[in-house]
Formats: sequence, C-alpha cells, structure tokens
Amino acid sequence: MKLLTTLLAALSPTATVLATTSSDDPVQQQSTAVFLKIASSNATIDGMFLSAYHIGAAQQTLGLFYGPPQPNDTSAIFYWNTTVTDGVAADVGVLYWTMPAAGNLTAWFSLDFAYTSGTNVVGTSVSAGSGAQGVGWDNNDRLFVDGTMVDDSNFVPEDHPVPIYPIGIRLQQWHACWILFAPYYYYALAWVTAEMPHNPTCQPVSVVKVLGHSILIVGWLPFQPDLSTRTG
Ligand SMILES: *[C@@H]1O[C@H](CO)[C@@H](O)[C@H](O)[C@H]1NC(C)=O
Ligand SMILES: *[C@@H]1O[C@H](CO)[C@@H](O)[C@H](O)[C@H]1NC(C)=O
Ligand SMILES: *[C@@H]1O[C@H](CO)[C@@H](O)[C@H](O)[C@H]1NC(C)=O
Ligand SMILES: *[C@@H]1O[C@H](CO)[C@@H](O)[C@H](O)[C@H]1NC(C)=O
Repeated sequence: MKLLTTLLAALSPTATVLATTSSDDPVQQQSTAVFLKIASSNATIDGMFLSAYHIGAAQQTLGLFYGPPQPNDTSAIFYWNTTVTDGVAADVGVLYWTMPAAGNLTAWFSLDFAYTSGTNVVGTSVSAGSGAQGVGWDNNDRLFVDGTMVDDSNFVPEDHPVPIYPIGIRLQQWHACWILFAPYYYYALAWVTAEMPHNPTCQPVSVVKVLGHSILIVGWLPFQPDLSTRTG
C-alpha cells in the first residue's frame, strides 16, 4: 500500500491529499526491553538468564548465565518486534538482540536456528542475517516457536494432511545443552526438533519473558558458580 500511495503521489499533483497514512499499512511495534529467564524443574539452572555469547563475526548464541543481569547489561537485553495491522498486533514476531554500532546506529540481530546435519539439537543464533524464526509469548509469558506446519507423526500415505492455518502449532521444545560452535563450547539455549535430544547434555527448559524494570525488584539470586565462560 505504501508503494501504491507513493506512486500516486508521484503521478498526480493532487494525489498528495490521498497519500496520508493508510490504515492498512502494517507498522513495526517494538516491545520494551526484556530479559529472558530460564524456567526448569532442575533447581541448578532454574532462574538462569540468557545472554548473547560470541560465536563468530557478528554472530552470537544465547548462552545461560546466573543472573539477574544488571539493568544496563545490553548483552542480556532483548526486544520483540511484531507487526500491527489495523491496530491488531500479530502474536508471532521476531526476537532481537541489539548491539550499539558506529555513530547512533544500532545493529539488530534476529533470533534464528542454526541447524547442523547429524543431530536433532539445533543451536540458537542471533545474527545480522535476514533469517528469523517466528516466535511469540504464550499466556504465561513463555516463548513459543510458530510451527506453521502440520504434525507429521500422524501422516498416512496418499491422505493429504490439512495444515493448521493461520495459527500454526505453538511449539516449546527449548533445551539447555552444551553446544559446540567451534572453537567455542557453551552452555546454551537449543531447540530439539523432535523426540529425545541426540546430545545427552540437553535438558528441557522454558524461556520466560521478564520485563527489564522488574529485575530491580527481584534483586540478586543467591550466588552459584558459573557454568560457562562468557567471552562475547
Ligand atoms: C522494531 O520496531 C521498531 C519500532 O517500530 C523499529 O524502530 C525498528 O526498526 C524495528 N526493528 C527492525 C529490525 O525492524
Ligand atoms: C541439573 O542441571 C545440572 C546443570 O546442567 C546438571 O549437571 C544436573 O545433572 C541436572 N540434574 C538433573 C536431575 O537433571
Ligand atoms: C552499569 O550501571 C552501573 C550503575 O549505574 C555502573 O556502575 C556500571 O559501570 C554500568 N556498567 C556498564 C557496563 O555500563
Ligand atoms: C547522535 O544523536 C545526537 C542526538 O540526536 C546528535 O546530536 C549527534 O549528532 C548524533 N551523532 C551521530 C554520529 O549521528
């Protein structure tokens, strides 16, 4: 629609009147700063936070560390952008980690999956690439992945399955695993595509959204030793 109104404005001297913001132009909406907290039945890792860990040039993974993060710890601050159309916000969007860049610029790094052949354990990656995994929050502020697919465990030959559209499947197959992003070996958030994780260090977790300001009220967790080395 934006292109159309721009074209109209260019073609007709009177068309500028029409070229006001159209109500059906989708706009990007940004969440307030959020921290990502691990929820687990295992008390050793329950309450840990996620932070951007360096794995390569302009590429990070989401590593676990004992929090809470400092309010100004930008390595642990994330934003969730979604599209608002006619005043209605989509419930699936993109999770971003931002990094201050030259001048007043901010580099936006989107959450995506880093698939590796030979395992059903998928690393998380935040990078400046164009790829992004559609994610949202359930009613308990837990991060879900938009499956937008059908459950192939029930497939029957010749019997064309009906996609679950447009809601998709809200999957929560997050795990905490030791992952090798050679040369780095991190305790990090991962995704298990199906069934039991191939990597025996993995245990299932949830990822909970915590608003930045509420960290100040929560205060520091009891000290626990670091499980991993933060280099990024
Ligand atoms: C996220 O939304 C904000 C607010 O509209 C916008 O300024 C920012 O550019 C968006 N980020 C990306 C990567 O689209
Ligand atoms: C709890 O998590 C720690 C750290 O990953 C791990 O060493 C331990 O085996 C886990 N305990 C259980 C019961 O899974
Ligand atoms: C974060 O804020 C605290 C308190 O204002 C300050 O002492 C500290 O130096 C800051 N850290 C960074 C990395 O900016
Ligand atoms: C950054 O923003 C400030 C305030 O808007 C402005 O004064 C300054 O010139 C900007 N710096 C650059 C490098 O764009």
